[in-house]
Amino acid sequence: MEQSLATYAAMVDEALAAAPLLRNAQGIAAAVSTLPPPKGEVPEPLKSAMRYSLLLPGKCLRPALLLASCRLLKEDWPTAMPFAISLEMVHAYSLIHDDLPALDNDDLRRGQPTNHRVFGENVAILAGDGLYSLAFETMLAAALTWEPPRAAIAAMEEIARRSGVTGMIAGQTLDVKLEGKEPEADTVAYIHRHKTADLITAAVMAGLLLAGANARQLQAGETYGQNLGMAFQIVDDLLDVQGDTATLGKQTGMDAQRGKMTWPAAYGMDESRTAARRYGQAAKDAIFSVFGGNATFLCELAEQTLTRVT
Ligand code: IPE
Ligand code: IPE
Ligand code: MG
Ligand code: MG
Ligand code: MG
Repeated sequence: MEQSLATYAAMVDEALAAAPLLRNAQGIAAAVSTLPPPKGEVPEPLKSAMRYSLLLPGKCLRPALLLASCRLLKEDWPTAMPFAISLEMVHAYSLIHDDLPALDNDDLRRGQPTNHRVFGENVAILAGDGLYSLAFETMLAAALTWEPPRAAIAAMEEIARRSGVTGMIAGQTLDVKLEGKEPEADTVAYIHRHKTADLITAAVMAGLLLAGANARQLQAGETYGQNLGMAFQIVDDLLDVQGDTATLGKQTGMDAQRGKMTWPAAYGMDESRTAARRYGQAAKDAIFSVFGGNATFLCELAEQTLTRVT
């Protein structure tokens, strides 16, 4: 199979549509064979609200990173699909909660009204909770038959920790609590590292751990993930200033309006572009130095992230 973000996204979309407990009766595709059978039923409107945010087309960056990292070392990498779609569930949950009136108060996401705009705040909060718990339910079911199970447990630990209270939630907390405060270099770096780079790193690390990577390979994956994640969030900040709503599928100019501690707020646009390039290059160097030509797709992903702002 050719390695491109679009090809991975097509595979992941098919598997997401067949996700346990959220699938509709019709249109269950071949991907379903790699996913555990559902136990029980999700009531409405919870199911529709969870499906709404999970299935709207996004870039699919995190599942693609997990699958491509696993593929570096494992021939039957498509068996990692339950972990890949679970990561997208964690990401979709984070976006639903990020958009809530109490956080960023956004009306538009992936070109459509945000979850709380459609389903109300109460159901949106619960849909986020639901996606987070379903992610772990899905991964645990897959871990029961993973060989060796320890590799799957290590991958889940990585995802739990990096999406958790010392990772993504830590970053999100400072992001919302420091709105309107004077930007400060170490703090901006902390926010970006945790709210965004940690989940991106978890994707790479989980893929490598599932494939039985050694310490040197894991170190390269961590450096790649952290640097790609920093570049990715700086680019996201730049696009909030210079991008357009039609392309991004979300409102622009919101960070300045809310007084967010972003990279452009701390350093200006030009220095932010330079920093994004520097982080992107560091990501490529780290992964290439250990995996060489096998890491071409991961290097291309870093490059594609940067070309969004140039
Ligand atoms: C948006 O992530 C949230 C950030 C961490 C900046 P993406 O830009 O990957 O969003 P989708 O998945 O493509 O919608
Ligand atoms: C979101 O960062 C990070 C997480 C959802 C964890 P942003 O608030 O910058 O993301 P967008 O711009 O709303 O997509
Ligand atoms: Mg936010
Ligand atoms: Mg936001
Ligand atoms: Mg943003």
